[in-house]
Amino acid sequence: MKNAKTFIAFCLSLSIFSLISIPASSTPAEQVTLTITCGSASVGLEYELCKEGVARWSAKTGHEVKLAQTPESSTDRLIMYQQVLYEMHNTIDVLMIDIVWPGLLQKYLVDLSNYDIDTGEHLPVLIENNSVNGKLVALPWFGDVGLLYYRKDLLEAHNLPVPSTWEELNATAAFVQSSMRSQGNKDFWGYVWQGDAYEGLTCNVVEWIASRNAGSIIESNRNVSINSSAAINALQTASDWIGTISPDDVLNFREEDARTAFQEGQALFMRNWPYAWKLLQSEDSAVRNKIGIAPLPAGAKGRHAGTLGGWQLAVSKYSENQALAVDLVRYLTGPEEQKIRLETAGYLPTRPALYKDPEIHKNSPHLADIFASLEKGVTRPSSAAGRAYKHVSRNIFTRVAMTLRGEMEPKAAILELEEYIKRRVR
Ligand code: GLC
Repeated sequence: MKNAKTFIAFCLSLSIFSLISIPASSTPAEQVTLTITCGSASVGLEYELCKEGVARWSAKTGHEVKLAQTPESSTDRLIMYQQVLYEMHNTIDVLMIDIVWPGLLQKYLVDLSNYDIDTGEHLPVLIENNSVNGKLVALPWFGDVGLLYYRKDLLEAHNLPVPSTWEELNATAAFVQSSMRSQGNKDFWGYVWQGDAYEGLTCNVVEWIASRNAGSIIESNRNVSINSSAAINALQTASDWIGTISPDDVLNFREEDARTAFQEGQALFMRNWPYAWKLLQSEDSAVRNKIGIAPLPAGAKGRHAGTLGGWQLAVSKYSENQALAVDLVRYLTGPEEQKIRLETAGYLPTRPALYKDPEIHKNSPHLADIFASLEKGVTRPSSAAGRAYKHVSRNIFTRVAMTLRGEMEPKAAILELEEYIKRRVR
């Protein structure tokens, strides 16, 4: 659902969020009902997987859990959460939160360090990300990193290597696109990605800039570094893709739109997160066994850079059953559940021990490439921007979307962004 306001108004008017209930198999003396948000049924398998994990916890504990759906995009989910939390609703106990939100939502979340939780088994960088003002506000559930998906069969047929730079991607995409069209595939495109005005576009922008070694938009010393010729060049390059190697429609694309186009065999390259792999390899996929994964291309004199993403589980401080909600979070973020999610749908564990599991590597050899990208992932400026991140990101994706649509010059967009961000993080 693209209109978050309509969605929220609808939910609040019903006081319910498209709930589905997982009944417990055996009933404890005092049965409690919890509600968890688990993402959206229209984004890959995230909702289904959550439902299965929650059912296992219910069977174990005898408590009932309701699943509340969220909107599809991270930006709309944040609007929904802030509404629920600002108004102190006790309707949601456990929230699935984006890696860039701990600072924004911390005052509404329970401090998990007051509970018996072994944080030492998670990637330290994620525990650090989820610790705000000495509070542990969420436990890592799965990691994400931006990747380049490519059509192995088509590169081989055209005798071309996987591109290592943006320049090579451009040339290869244009060449194969024109060859495919001359063979009658009129709707074939070179590169699909996320160009809609939402958090996913900010993730792409961070990659374009970092891959040119042009910094992280806001550095850890809070220096605003977005104004560089490399950043202007990055926006110009991306604008030039529209209508040449990327369809005009990419301006409305989110993750699932890009995946659908690629999965239907309509594109040579795609930027997306690891979750897409298993779906692209499913039996009914047009590209099954025809794809590969690589790090996203480097800019001139740059490096490969994939934005770090991922989702955490947190407990609302308005929950009336906090201890039980913490138990559900502990269970879902535990090693068994993370292993199941990795094996069935490719969601990346946040527990390094699982990365060393030989059984996992044997069953999914492509994971080695993903893990390598994850280790080198680049972050969005959420820690440096603190509570202003929401506004900073909104300004980035809004102005960049205008640039991609030809409504603003790249240089003007960068100058305005610099001025705005400096004001917000002063
Ligand atoms: C993925 C990432 C998340 C990011 C979002 C943007 O869900 O895990 O961190 O904000 O995509 O669309």
